[in-house]
This record gives sequence, structure tokens and C-alpha cells, in this order.
Amino acid sequence: MATPSLGDMSPADAESVYFNEYPPPKALPKHEALARAFIDRHVEANRRVVLVTSGGTTVPLEAQTVRFIDNFSAGTRGATSAEYFLQEGYAVIFLHRQYSLLPYSRHYSHSTNCFLDFMDEAPASDSTQSDHGPIVVRDEYQHQMRDVLRKYRYAKQNNLLLLLPFTTVSEYMFELRSLAKLMRPLGPNALFYLAAAVSDFFIPRSRMAEHKIQSSELPAHLDKDSAVEPDDIYTGENEEQPSQRKKLVINLDPVPKFLHRLVDGWAPDGSMVVSFKLETDPSLLVYKARTALQRYSHHLVIGNLLSTRKWEVVFITPDPPHERWLRVPKARRSKSISGVEDQVGLAEAKKKSDGSAPTPE
Ligand code: PMT
Repeated sequence: MATPSLGDMSPADAESVYFNEYPPPKALPKHEALARAFIDRHVEANRRVVLVTSGGTTVPLEAQTVRFIDNFSAGTRGATSAEYFLQEGYAVIFLHRQYSLLPYSRHYSHSTNCFLDFMDEAPASDSTQSDHGPIVVRDEYQHQMRDVLRKYRYAKQNNLLLLLPFTTVSEYMFELRSLAKLMRPLGPNALFYLAAAVSDFFIPRSRMAEHKIQSSELPAHLDKDSAVEPDDIYTGENEEQPSQRKKLVINLDPVPKFLHRLVDGWAPDGSMVVSFKLETDPSLLVYKARTALQRYSHHLVIGNLLSTRKWEVVFITPDPPHERWLRVPKARRSKSISGVEDQVGLAEAKKKSDGSAPTPE
């Protein structure tokens, strides 16, 4: 009898099958210890804590990974939003794709905004008798950089920002589940802001090649991964050059949608859950965002299109007005690195003290 796919199981069954398939990420115990201490501190201070997820997850094709499928996201939305949450008095757990953009440093790490272009070497002072002057920030950037530096320092010195990295989709899922459960003592002071671009398809661990998939035939005694062929990942023969090169055909399973489990099981009672929906076809966006809100019964879906995501988003809420577009006026678009967050801030996603869905201002 065929094994049921994860998509056909109840959310609770899919959870136990999925999480049993993978070993927890090596960094999980360390991340949990850091998160526990961070959360305890903010529970004590009665401060609101938001878990911001940011960046794209990967799907490895091999256990010892050389190749992987990636999801689009630079981390701009998450990193920018985190800054606004901090400004609004939240403590932020920033669960991000390793090496994607981070709050505050994102202002200086774009290839078009290299931090080195902001610096200069000042003349050496006479007293040092050295020909090496101190490195300084160029005059024209002093004001802007001081502002970013002060906010960054404030967040760090007051333990308001916890940075936790992930790479693969299974690492993301383990981290999300653990963090949501650890956040339970926060109750209604917890907010989930899920801006990460999470893979929808993956290769189950049991069907994954251990070693780098070969693109040419190996002698039988060296072909260690032949057991996973031909249905799951297989390298079929190329008709044109049968003896040399092989095609790669990948058979992916759907990743269970754990938003269900987050809302109904992992997250604290009374907490607020905001998810994002990315589409490329404008005619699908509102429909898909509404469907997600109905299916997972959370508080807000923020929809965006790949091509216009920096300038417009749509808020889909259970209560009227149900659909609300926020747009950056054309004249102001080129001045903003990060777009819509810099214009509307996160007043939009601020939880009302009664725990209901936010009312866009
Ligand atoms: O980082 P930038 O370059 O600024 O780009 C930002 C962004 C476009 C990536 C961001 O604004 C955005 O839209 N992120 C969500 C992308 C998306 O469409 O995700 P999704 O449809 O795969 O998932 C929707 C929600 O379901 C997500 O909140 C996710 O947490 C959740 N999910 C997804 C997959 C899965 N298997 N289980 C889930 O629970």
C-alpha cells in the first residue's frame, strides 16, 4: 500500500512524521537556551516580543549538500520591519536565513551601498608621528550613520534583539516550533510576523542522496546512491550521449503547512499571527491571501507581488475593511531603500491592547 503523503495527513500527524524524519539542527539547543533567557527577561519586564522570520529557506538535494533549491528573499522586508518593531518598543527575535540582511547593518551591506564607500582615512595627527590617520565616516554620511549606530547600540545594550540563523527548510521548521513553544509565557504579549519565504516542496530525508549527485555514469561498484534511484532523485540517461551525461529529474513532496500547527498548537493563547503571501500573478494575490486567512484562522495576511513588493502591499483582515492597499507615492519611491516599511512603519502591525486584529492607520 502506498504511504500517504504528508499533505494528506492531519496537521498533527504531518507534524510528527515530518519532525521524526530529520535530526534537529545542531544549533537548536544553543538557540533554545539563548531564546529562553531572552524571553524570560522580557516576560519579567512585561515587554511585547515579536518573532520576525526573514529570508528564504533552502531545500538540499543531497544530505552532504552541494546543490540546493533556494527561495527568493533578500531579507529586506524582515530586517526593515524588525527595526520598526524595535522602535515601537518590542523586543525582537530575528529568525533569519544565514547571511541575509540584518536589522541596522542592512543599510550598509548592499552591493550598491557598500560600507567602504561611507568611510575615509583622516589625516594623521602630528603628535602620533605616524603616516596612518584614523578611519572615519565621511562628512556627508555622519548624520545618517550616527542615527543607525545609536539605534543599533541601544538594541544591543538593552538585549532587545536576538539574531538566530537558519539555512534549510527543516532547520526553519524546528526553530519556529521551538521558539513558538518557548514564547508561551508571553501570552498575548507575543507576536509572530512571518516574512520568511518558506519552501513549499522538499525531498524527504529517506529519499535523499547522501553524496553529491553525479552527472555522468559511475562504474557499479562506485555507485553508492543507486538505492535512491530512479523515482526520487534520478539521473536518467541522456538520449543524445547515453554513455557520458545524465539528466537530473527531481521528485519533490509538498512541505506540510505548519501555519496550522503554529496557530492551533505551538503559539501562546492570545498571541497574534501575521503571515505574508508572495505571488507573481496579480489576479491571484488577493484570492490566495484570503484563502490563507480563512484556512489558518490567524489575524492578518500581508500580500505582495514580486515586482511591486517594495511599493505596495495589501492587508487582508478578518474584520472590515477586509482588504486594504498601502502604497508608497511614486515621487517617494526612489529615495527609500526598503520601500513600504519606511513609509507606513509598523503601526500597521501593532497589536491593539485587547488582542484583536490591527486596524491599519
Ligand atoms: O526579503 P525580501 O527580498 O524583502 O522579500 C520579502 C518577501 C517577498 C519574501 C516577503 O514579503 C514575503 O512575501 N514572504 C512570504 C513568502 C510566501 O509567499 O510564503 P508562502 O506562501 O510560502 O507562505 C505563506 C506563509 O505560510 C508564510 O508566512 C510561512 O511562514 C507559512 N508556511 C509556508 C510554508 C510551509 N510549508 N509552512 C508554512 O507555515
